[in-house]
Amino acid sequence: MKMKVTGLAIAVALSAAGSVAWAAAAKDEPIQPLVAPKVTNPGKVELGKKLFFDTRLSKSGFISCNSCHNLSMGGTDNLKTSIGDHWQKGPINAPTVLNSSLAVAQFWDGRAADLKAQAGGPIANPGEMAFTHELAIDVLQSIPGYVAEFKAVFGSSRVDIDKVTSAIAAFEETLVTPDSPFDKWLTGDEKALNAREVAGYKLFKESGCVACHNGPAVGGTSFQKMGVVEPYKSTSPAGGRSDFTGKDEDRFNFKVPTLRNVELTYPYFHDGEAATLEQAVDVMGRLQLGRKYSEDEIGKIVAFLKTLTGDQPLFTIPLLPPSSNSTPRPTPFD
Ligand code: HEC
Ligand code: HEC
Repeated sequence: MKMKVTGLAIAVALSAAGSVAWAAAAKDEPIQPLVAPKVTNPGKVELGKKLFFDTRLSKSGFISCNSCHNLSMGGTDNLKTSIGDHWQKGPINAPTVLNSSLAVAQFWDGRAADLKAQAGGPIANPGEMAFTHELAIDVLQSIPGYVAEFKAVFGSSRVDIDKVTSAIAAFEETLVTPDSPFDKWLTGDEKALNAREVAGYKLFKESGCVACHNGPAVGGTSFQKMGVVEPYKSTSPAGGRSDFTGKDEDRFNFKVPTLRNVELTYPYFHDGEAATLEQAVDVMGRLQLGRKYSEDEIGKIVAFLKTLTGDQPLFTIPLLPPSSNSTPRPTPFD
């Protein structure tokens, strides 16, 4: 009898522990795990992927979204500022497209409300792909393979910019990077991080980095001043959110960048002036929090930041349908 009761007590204790683990799927932390997106319209995603890689959406026939948001390199170009049409020096660092669907708005100053609104910009930007929407549509409409695919996805053979940006956005929404070591740790796998990485996370949290870098994307949730305690010195002309709102109080406010995959997305800051993660963490500590970290503390935070690298989007390079005789030809040197 006695044995039976003890056995029962153990069983109850186990199931209670079990139910706690289930109820709290993730630890109660200011950063939440990334969840892989559910693809509801695979045809649209596939079309968007092709457009993302298609250099024929640029005047030169040489630049695609992937030129500056290289998906083999964390969705960035790893340059201080991008190179656009005619080798033009871009004005600002290219943020990653990975997990950008999770941000409150797009661009450093948030001037595009969402991915669809953003996607039309670069095609017609003279400093980027330097095309016009009309010419881009003429190109796509002249390619039978594309026309068939637009018809299959949207039910109409008429290609327009609204469909183009909507397909690109559908593809970008799939560019989420779950299952990083940190996410595994958040959801209960204690061995996913070593002691130094956990110490780095504690320091990141306790010193106040999470006030701005929080949520599933570890950023992207707000616009914040660059240089809270100490001003940031930069030769870049970018004024931050005030460039878009015209309001003085928004001056030098930038969208807080996501720190997901930050190991891959060097160089850092809107002007790309921090070459390494160590430099970026040192600047953040001093300028945002008034705290000068030791080399060892910086090393710990960097070790933690590297645990935010998740599963990169894996897919076969899309095969693009060939141009037809009537497709307008690129003019790279005009
Ligand atoms: C010549 C380089 C270049 C090309 C080509 C380019 N981009 Fe960008 N992209 C940038 C830069 C630079 C920014 C940041 C601009 C800013 O914030 O003012 C950016 C910003 C973005 C953002 C916002 C990310 C964020 O976190 O705010 C998204 C999304 C994006 N681009 C997607 C695209 C898509 C889709 C295409 C193709 C249609 C494309 N880009 C083509 C350089 C480029
Ligand atoms: C007051 C809000 C705030 C706090 C606190 C803060 N950050 Fe930032 N962080 C930002 C903003 C805004 C940027 C973008 C600044 C820019 O590019 O000019 C940024 C950029 C970064 C970047 C570069 C990311 C990239 O892709 O360019 C890293 C790394 C970073 N922060 C880490 C940290 C760490 C580590 C801490 C704590 C020591 C911290 N941040 C504290 C707001 C904050």
